[in-house]
Amino acid sequence: MREQRRSTHEGSAGRAPSLRLFYALWPDEPTRTRLATLQAGIHGRKVDVANLHLTLAFLGSQPRDSLRMLDGVMQSLALTPFTLTLDEYGYFNKPQIVWAGPSSPPHALMSLQGALWQSLLDHGVPLKPVAGFRPHVTLARDAERLSREWDSAIEWPVGTIALVESIPVPGGVRYRPVASRQF
Ligand code: 2AM
Repeated sequence: MREQRRSTHEGSAGRAPSLRLFYALWPDEPTRTRLATLQAGIHGRKVDVANLHLTLAFLGSQPRDSLRMLDGVMQSLALTPFTLTLDEYGYFNKPQIVWAGPSSPPHALMSLQGALWQSLLDHGVPLKPVAGFRPHVTLARDAERLSREWDSAIEWPVGTIALVESIPVPGGVRYRPVASRQF
């Protein structure tokens, strides 16, 4: 696990004492490229291509000391490879997010997210309850609702889960996997 020195939020040891973290499915490059093509024509703040992902659980600020445990939670998950068919656009009104997602989320995805969530609770990680898991890849924020129809499905061979750090950078954010695991 490579750690970087940064000038913001640093503790006395020269490293941030806490990190903003989430778990995500991390697309392979062909899937990332296909997702990026969906962003054309969207009016809004498009997510950087390198940042595109599907969030499984958002943790928010966590102590750096928890990284090993959080990685262990991920390494202990039972993983079954699956293909995720992305075939619909969606829109979240309040954050004005345009997203791409599966119209029929596969059982493997829903059970993986459920197992991850339960394991985090078992390890005492404080989680904000969410109403329901709606799998999606955010394409743009502060965006106008899309009116066009979906064209052809994207078949994402899901192969990587990652624990990701959200790093504020000038003009936005950068997502950096701090640990990952192949299916
Ligand atoms: P989003 O794609 O719907 O915006 C990193 O911020 C990732 O965590 C994003 O994919 C974001 O989802 C997700 N996330 C979930 N809950 C969040 C929250 N309360 N604050 C910020 N991001 C959150």
